[in-house]
Amino acid sequence: MLEIIKYPNLLLRRRAKKVMNILAPEIQELISAMIATMKNAGGIGLAAPQIKQSLRIIVINAKNGPRVLINPKVVWKSFFKKIIFEEGCLSFPEIFGLVRRYRWVILKYQDQDGQLQKIKAQGLLTTVIQHELDHLYGILFIDKVFKYTKGEDKIKELIKQANYKER
Ligand code: CO
Repeated sequence: MLEIIKYPNLLLRRRAKKVMNILAPEIQELISAMIATMKNAGGIGLAAPQIKQSLRIIVINAKNGPRVLINPKVVWKSFFKKIIFEEGCLSFPEIFGLVRRYRWVILKYQDQDGQLQKIKAQGLLTTVIQHELDHLYGILFIDKVFKYTKGEDKIKELIKQANYKER
């Protein structure tokens, strides 16, 4: 299993780079390891920066099996942020909060074979995808939480530590 880094590790704040060589064995192995790590941790999504790889790769544990999104890009989204889900993150154990997200997004991305794909994500999937996509820009769900449902004291303490590190 790969190590999942925890906040306030500064690697979580980096902007990830485009993957150029999707078919390279090291990228294919990385993707398999990400899927295994996500499943083992009981997560529904994992972004490469969480396992110390500053690359635009996301894996999602969807209903019909794991899904791999490489170099994803939002091409269209609903106008208003309307849906609210309680979110958590493998890089923030024991912390949960409510986040507003776009009701749907349309993404272009490359699959594990390097083929261009398009997806319209709604329901829980739209939340998971928007959360993971944020990781690729160094944006974390705590930046968007409007109400914590669990671990509020803990996260306040961690944010203090993070501010100290960033100084
Ligand atoms: Co996350």
